[in-house]
Amino acid sequence: MTKRTVPLLVGNWKTTPATLVEAVKFVKTLDKKLASAKTKSLKTLPKKSYYLAAPDIFIPHLQDVATHGYIGSQNISGVSLGQETGETIPSMIISGGADFAIIGHSEVRARGETSDARAHKVALSLQSKLTTILCVGEHTRDNQGKYLAELEEDVKQTLSLVKRDLFEHLVIAYEPVWAIGGKTPASTHECFEVVIALRRALAALAGIEYAKKVHILYGGTVTTENAKSFIEEGGVDGLLIGRASQDVETFEEIILSCHKNK
Ligand code: PGA
Repeated sequence: MTKRTVPLLVGNWKTTPATLVEAVKFVKTLDKKLASAKTKSLKTLPKKSYYLAAPDIFIPHLQDVATHGYIGSQNISGVSLGQETGETIPSMIISGGADFAIIGHSEVRARGETSDARAHKVALSLQSKLTTILCVGEHTRDNQGKYLAELEEDVKQTLSLVKRDLFEHLVIAYEPVWAIGGKTPASTHECFEVVIALRRALAALAGIEYAKKVHILYGGTVTTENAKSFIEEGGVDGLLIGRASQDVETFEEIILSCHKNK
C-alpha cells in the first residue's frame, strides 16, 4: 500500500453549531489560524488542509468562506430525482457546493438506514464523482475475530453496485461503534488489524490496484493527544473526528499536529 503523504482530516460536525452565524465564524477563525500557521511555522501545510462535514443548509455559505478546507455533507439520499419528500440527492448537494459526503455513519444506521439503502446511496454518490466517505465499524468485539469477517462482508455488500473505476473517489472510515462519543478509542494495533481486513475486502471486490486507491480513515474518540498515532501506527490515511472538530482550537491543533513531520 502506498503511504499517503497528506493526511485526510475530516471533521464531523453532526448537529452543531446551532446557527449559521456560528458556523461561518468557526470556519473564518479556523482559516485565519491555518493561514497564519502556514506563513509562520508550518510552511509545508497544504493550501487546503481539512474537510468539514456540516449540516446541509450551511454548505453553500461555508463554501463561500472556506479557503483552507473542503466542505461536505453528513448524509445523502439514494432515491431518484422526483417525488420523494424531504430527501436530498447528490446532484443537489454538489450544486449547493459540497465537495464530499459521508455515508453510513453509525448514528444514521441506528435511525434505520438499511444496507440496501446504503448501497444505493454509495453507488449514486460515486456515480456523481462525489468524494464518498463510507463508514463501517463493529458494535462489539469477540475473541475469535468474527467482527473482522462481518466488516469485510459489510464493505463488499455496500459496494456491490459500484464500478471499480469509481474507487478513486471512495474513502472508508473505520469507526468502531463502541469508540464513538465515548472515552476510549481503539488502540492503534486494533485499528491496524481492521485496515488490513478492509483492504482485503476491497482487493477481493476490485483487485489490488483499485483497492490501493481507496483512502482509509479512523474515527472514534480522536483527540489532540492520540490523533497522530493512528496515522503513524494505525495504518490509516486520515481521521474522522467528531467532538474534537466542534471546537475550533482543538480542531486546529489536530490539523497542525498531523501535518507536522516527526
Ligand atoms: P467522536 O465521534 O470523535 O466524538 O467519538 C466520531 C464520529 O462519530 O464520527
